Amino acid sequence: MTGPALTAAAARPARTEAVVRIEGLCKSFDGRLVLDHLDLEVGRGRIVSVIGQSGGGKSTLMRCVNLLESPDRGTVEVAGEVVHSGGRTVCRDLPGLRRTVGMVFQRFHLFPHLTAVENVVLAQRRAGVPEQEALERAVTLLRRVRVAHRALARPDQLSGGEQQRVAIARALALRPEVLLFDEPTSSLDPEATREVLGVMRELAADGMTMLLVTHELPFAREVSDHVVFVDGGRIVEEGTPRDVLDRPAQSRTREFLAAYGPAS
Ligand SMILES: Nc1ncnc2c1ncn2[C@@H]1O[C@H](COP(=O)(O)OP(=O)(O)OP(=O)(O)O)[C@@H](O)[C@H]1O
Ligand SMILES: [Mg+2]
Repeated sequence: MTGPALTAAAARPARTEAVVRIEGLCKSFDGRLVLDHLDLEVGRGRIVSVIGQSGGGKSTLMRCVNLLESPDRGTVEVAGEVVHSGGRTVCRDLPGLRRTVGMVFQRFHLFPHLTAVENVVLAQRRAGVPEQEALERAVTLLRRVRVAHRALARPDQLSGGEQQRVAIARALALRPEVLLFDEPTSSLDPEATREVLGVMRELAADGMTMLLVTHELPFAREVSDHVVFVDGGRIVEEGTPRDVLDRPAQSRTREFLAAYGPAS
């Protein structure tokens, strides 16, 4: 493979074990079907991007992976363990699941009364990491996401991009096996978006397993191994970024892409 095709995605192995496997996932709210028999797999070291219109069920899907939301039907398997099956949570260690599955939200969700470094330490403290080790790791991670110089600032003293990078550091602090990103840049201005995508690009290059909801189609195209277009709670189309974003087979996908502009 040569030139631009040799992306971080192309450099990763072809076949790997699944870190997340979802089968026949259904979820209704108030009698309305929001997820309709979804199947999805994220292999170790792979990056799967979920795209689709507002209200299509993308966040609900993400929240079902770490059981912030309880599915009605189907199976959710994380790191080889079935955590939910047939409408029943069978995960015996929910805190452990939340450590395995890190999550970064659109609106950061940092604790407002804690400094950046304290936000990254807190999750580790709750997981029983010794204080000194937690602090050292927090500083290392804040350096990695390039906000170490703001370690002692509280969220309201940080820009949106800085807050989101602290949130990524926090998500990394418990050494998750997979990171979920739910529109991590959609509340950011273009400059902050570039900074956050830069950090995510580095995580991708480091081999982090990621499940990502994004409207940043050029970014999805660049880093993803697999792109899933969800509409009305169903997977309408999925495949390589080239298949889905450059030559979609379904008219619904084409309409969506036309509304969101070209992917590159
Ligand atoms: N807790 C809830 N109670 C009732 N309805 C909900 C709840 N959460 C989500 N919904 C509904 O489920 C549907 C899917 O919501 P979801 O947030 O998953 O969509 P989305 O694809 O993430 O949209 P967006 O791109 O706007 O974030 C929406 O119609 C939403 O209003
Ligand atoms: Mg959403």
